[in-house]
Amino acid sequence: MKFLRDLDLRGKRVLIRADLNVPLDDNLQVTDANRIKEFLPTLELILNAGGKPIVMSHFGDPGGKVEPTLSLKPVAAKMKELLNREVTLAPDCIGSEVEKLAHSLADGAVLLLENLRFHKGESKNDPEFAAQLARLGEVFVGDAFATAHRAHASMVGVPQRFQEKAAGLLMQRELEYFNRAMHEPKRPLCVILGGAKISSKLAALINISDKADKIIIGGAMANTFLAAQGIQMGRSLYEPELQSKVLELVESLRKRGCHLYLPVDFIVGPALNSVGQARAVPAQEIPSDMMALDIGPATTMLYKEAVESAETILWNGPMGAFENEEYAKGTFGMIEALTSAKGLTVVGGGDTDAAIHHMHVADKFDYISTGGGAFLALLEGKTLPGIGALE
Ligand code: 3PG
Repeated sequence: MKFLRDLDLRGKRVLIRADLNVPLDDNLQVTDANRIKEFLPTLELILNAGGKPIVMSHFGDPGGKVEPTLSLKPVAAKMKELLNREVTLAPDCIGSEVEKLAHSLADGAVLLLENLRFHKGESKNDPEFAAQLARLGEVFVGDAFATAHRAHASMVGVPQRFQEKAAGLLMQRELEYFNRAMHEPKRPLCVILGGAKISSKLAALINISDKADKIIIGGAMANTFLAAQGIQMGRSLYEPELQSKVLELVESLRKRGCHLYLPVDFIVGPALNSVGQARAVPAQEIPSDMMALDIGPATTMLYKEAVESAETILWNGPMGAFENEEYAKGTFGMIEALTSAKGLTVVGGGDTDAAIHHMHVADKFDYISTGGGAFLALLEGKTLPGIGALE
C-alpha cells in the first residue's frame, strides 16, 4: 500500500474518500467535529503539495434518494471554519456540473461533493456510478477508515479504477496504532470488551482469544458468561443460546493461559432509565426483579488493577448503560484507569469514544479510533474492503 507522501500531487485533481459522517443537532449544526478535525491533516498535506482536493463522503443513510436534512452543507461550513479556506459544496457528487466544478477548481480551494448515499449506486458498488466518480480525479486517496468495512462504490469500485492511489494520513495512523496494539504488542496485552450483546462481539472475542494475555469483559455481554456458569441474572439482558459457545471459549482461554476477568459485583436497577434505585450487589445476589446495568465498585477496582500491569491496552465497548449517570461509574472508572495506565492505550467504537469525550480526557489516550463498525471488523481479524482496494 502506498501512503500519501509517496504520491506526486502537484497540479493534480486528488479525489479523496473521507468519512465526514458526524452528528448534528436539531438545528443541523455539527455537535462533534472530531472526524472532520482528524481528516484535516490529509487535506492540508494535499493542499501544501499543490494538489486540488475533491472530497467525497457519505452522511447518514438516506437510502439512495435525496434527503435535504442529510446534505453535507453543515459539514462544508464546519470544514471552512476549521480549515480557514474556501470550501465549495457541489450540488451533487456526479454529473456534468460537478465535473465542471472539479476541472475548474482554483489552486488552494477545496471541493466537497454532496452526500454519496443520495445515489443507490454507492451502497451497491454500481460500476457505472463508480466510473462517474472516478472521472473527477487523477489520483485517489482513501482516508475513510470508519467506512472501510463497507464494500461501497467510493470505497472499492472507485479506487480500483486508479493506478495512482494511496492511504491518507488518518487511514495510515489508524492502521499503525491497530497493528501496534494487536499484531506487534508489547506484552502483556490486555483487551477490554464491553457492550450490550455478546453476539455482536463473539467473532472479535474468538479472534483475540489467541492473541491477548488478559481479556476483561464488561457491559451486558458479561451477563451471558455469568449465566453460563450458573449464576442467576434476574431480569438482566443475556443471550441463552450462546451459553455453550461462551463455555467453550472460557475453556480455550484457560488452556492457553489467558486470564479472563468477569464482574464480581454489579450495579443493579429495575430499568435502563430508572432514577434513584441503583445499588451495588455481589454477582451471586442479583435480585430476581432487577437488571445488572453496570459493573460494581469491586469489579471496577479489580479491572483497574488488571490494566495497571499491562503494556498494551485495547478497549472497545462500555462497561454499563453509561447514558444514565447512575450506571456510568464502571465505564468512567475504566476511563480513569486507562488515563493513568503506563501501557499503550488504543480505543475504538462510538460508545467508548463518546464516554471518553464526555469526560474531556481524549488527549490522555495514545489513540482513539474514528471507527465503530470498522474497528470491530479489524478486531474480528477481517480484511476490510476499503483497505484491500488501496493495496
Ligand atoms: C460510521 O459512522 O460508523 C461510519 O460512518 C459508517 O456508517 P454506516 O454504518 O452508515 O455505514
